[in-house]
Amino acid sequence: MVPAADGDLAGRRVLILGHGSIGHATAERLEPFGCEVVGVARHARAGVHAIGELPALLGGAGALVNLLPLTRDTRRLVDAAVLAALPDGALVVNVGRGATVDQAALTAELASGRLRAVLDVTDPEPLPEDDPLWSLPNVLITSHSAGATEGGRRAAWALVGDQLRRLVAGAPLRNIVRQAAAARAAPKADSS
Ligand SMILES: NC(=O)c1ccc[n+]([C@@H]2O[C@H](COP(=O)([O-])OP(=O)(O)OC[C@H]3O[C@@H](n4cnc5c(N)ncnc54)[C@H](OP(=O)(O)O)[C@@H]3O)[C@@H](O)[C@H]2O)c1
Repeated sequence: MVPAADGDLAGRRVLILGHGSIGHATAERLEPFGCEVVGVARHARAGVHAIGELPALLGGAGALVNLLPLTRDTRRLVDAAVLAALPDGALVVNVGRGATVDQAALTAELASGRLRAVLDVTDPEPLPEDDPLWSLPNVLITSHSAGATEGGRRAAWALVGDQLRRLVAGAPLRNIVRQAAAARAAPKADSS
């Protein structure tokens, strides 16, 4: 369990590393709680910093929410130096991919009690039964199941229904992925 003491993110700076569709939705949910949400992505844009600016942003962060895909550029991007630059008591949330974090370095920070973590993804998955992360009191592990909710299933079926109605009516479909453009824009992510 992540201890409640000092656990409040209201008014704190939350870095969202990987500010794509889920990062954007996460920011929408954090902002009403008074969080100062700071996005980091490959490319800078309004309200989002480029990845090169990450080191300068870490010192003031109450939480780092990692939503990176796993690519050749992101493997262990959250390394010992990134973790060491976070302030004492900061919360590390990983919902992206386990291997984007140096898990040995994260485990060391958590075992010392300096950082806290919520991990939906780990490296490897499933996390071995004897992994020390399971027994740390400042870690909450959701085993790649944080999205498996009733509400998630309802939303998925609602989307399927809406897409079918659009298809029958000849209306534009939602969430079109333009594959040629996407391939040009992104290094290949893992599909697991
Ligand atoms: N835990 C789960 O159950 C679960 C469920 C769904 C997805 N996921 C994970 O969440 C990830 C994000 O999903 P999404 O739908 O939000 O993806 P998305 O819309 O493609 O967003 C990915 C973001 O990552 C950024 N990024 C990619 N490479 C980067 C790099 N080298 N340095 C910095 N930023 C980088 C992109 O930057 P740009 O915007 O500048 O391109 C983009 O903002 C997925 O890839 C998947 O690994 C996990």
